[in-house]
Amino acid sequence: MSEVNEVPVKNQDTSRRFERFSHRARGNLWRQFFELSPLARPAGQMTRLAKALKADALELTRSEHGEVHARAVASMVVTSDAYRVLLLQRLREAARGLRIPLSNHALRVAQTALLGVEIGKNVRLGRGVYFVHSLGTVIGGDAQVGQRVRFYGNNTVGTAKDNGYPIIEDDVWVGAGARILGPITVGARSRIGANAVVLQNVPPDSVAVGIPARIIPRRDAANSEPIESLRPSVADVVNLGM
Ligand SMILES: CC(C)(COP(=O)(O)OP(=O)(O)OC[C@H]1O[C@@H](n2cnc3c(N)ncnc32)[C@H](O)[C@@H]1OP(=O)(O)O)[C@@H](O)C(=O)NCCC(=O)NCCS
Repeated sequence: MSEVNEVPVKNQDTSRRFERFSHRARGNLWRQFFELSPLARPAGQMTRLAKALKADALELTRSEHGEVHARAVASMVVTSDAYRVLLLQRLREAARGLRIPLSNHALRVAQTALLGVEIGKNVRLGRGVYFVHSLGTVIGGDAQVGQRVRFYGNNTVGTAKDNGYPIIEDDVWVGAGARILGPITVGARSRIGANAVVLQNVPPDSVAVGIPARIIPRRDAANSEPIESLRPSVADVVNLGM
């Protein structure tokens, strides 16, 4: 015998559909309310900042120690100038996002005074860019620097004739004193020799040496697997794009 309170199947479907609809509507309303609220922008910026700082700490630790463990990450965060450069850079990005007057300027001055590196406000730095020695490095204009790029110190990434700024792809190493000038691309995993002046595109897995730089293939490139295939990028792990 059927139960007295049993709801007919058709009505069950309708009521489930209504529940789903009202759940979605509530979600949308809440999202719209949050997006309109004055807290939305700071909350978004703070989340981005925290993710960027975490990814930078993990990538730098991996670059320095080859593996990531808590003690190494703590030591990187507390003692390394390379991390301080990125910390100030991420704070500058957040401050610009929040449109706090003069904050980017003040942080840029602090970055230059404390660490000797000058980075333009439109420069994009990838995760874990490693300033092995930050002194004397200048990155200008709207230059783009990929993930895990290393600067060995006293480098210039700038324009040659006011005609544009370089793109440096992931995992490039820039030797001490090297200059990379103009609207050129330095391909992934290339090595720029100490004191080179690079004025032309550099294909991936190349070495650029001399003034002006001549390009030769990296001898170990054929044997070296791309870094990404050896290990997942930390940026991927924490689900970040550049
Ligand atoms: C370029 C570099 C990465 C070497 O790469 P590599 O693939 O091992 O290249 P090799 O040593 O086989 O050199 C290849 C050629 O480039 C020349 N070369 C290497 N480094 C050079 C440099 N800095 N400037 C000019 N020529 C250079 C070599 O004499 C060689 O020339 P050849 O083909 O006529 O014989 C390395 O020499 C370099 O400059 N590293 C930067 C180191 C640095 O900045 N350290 C700072 C520590 S704080």
